[in-house]
Amino acid sequence: MLRYHEIAEADHRILNPFTDEKLALLGEVCRLRPGQRLLDLACGKGELLCRWAREHGITGVGVDLSEVFLAAARARADELGVAGQVAFVSGDAADYGAEPGGFDLVSCLGATWIGDGLVGTLELMRPAVRPDGLLLVGEPYWIGPPPPAAYHALGIAPDQCASLAGTLDRLAGAGLELVEMVLADGDSWDRYVASQWWTIDRWLRAHPDHPDAPAMREFLDQARHSHLAYGREFLGWGGFVLRPPLGK
Ligand SMILES: C[S@@+](CC[C@H](N)C(=O)[O-])C[C@H]1O[C@@H](n2cnc3c(N)ncnc32)[C@H](O)[C@@H]1O
Repeated sequence: MLRYHEIAEADHRILNPFTDEKLALLGEVCRLRPGQRLLDLACGKGELLCRWAREHGITGVGVDLSEVFLAAARARADELGVAGQVAFVSGDAADYGAEPGGFDLVSCLGATWIGDGLVGTLELMRPAVRPDGLLLVGEPYWIGPPPPAAYHALGIAPDQCASLAGTLDRLAGAGLELVEMVLADGDSWDRYVASQWWTIDRWLRAHPDHPDAPAMREFLDQARHSHLAYGREFLGWGGFVLRPPLGK
């Protein structure tokens, strides 16, 4: 699946349903200050760290499994002139040995499978953040109850994500205070999903005999149908900003 995403998201810088504007807003609501240290687990092409390093003067470490995405992240850091502020590490984010309390903000956007779900991923992230720091998690939620067929089509188990209020309950149950959020909308989902259709179609035309071509064709058909039939109507996505309670 990672290889398919590397092909489908070849033209993307942000590998989630946020636009440049929403990513910038997310950085603003986190009230970042120059010199703060960020850890971004499953950082993809490093756009969050690179942009926020340039816009807010933070430093940071990104961890990801994909060498393709990490190469893009390092190139982006060079392009934005922030290569001295950010580092990108190859590996499983679940195994990254972050120094306890070593970061002002620890994030994981769009990859909460690294800790077997939202709560497990927050547990994984929490030791790395300072007591007065922030956690930032990007997670899907149900806008409304989806028809049963949506679960299979979108590849999301019924209890894998909750409503927005149910997500609040899960965050509170993890002992965290939700202090801000930025949500995707239908148009920003389209920029993430629909723009992949063009990229995959171009790849298929250029590689008709590639061994991955049939699987990429299926990936395109499935992703396009599930977005139009269910995702755009029922699936939301948010960047949730969280604080550990005082004294814990
Ligand atoms: C949906 S993308 C999100 C990327 C990035 N956070 C963003 O929002 O642009 C998911 C990312 O998780 C990475 N990934 C998946 N499993 C991982 C793991 N166990 N450890 C580190 N990275 C992982 C993928 O390579 C991919 O870059």
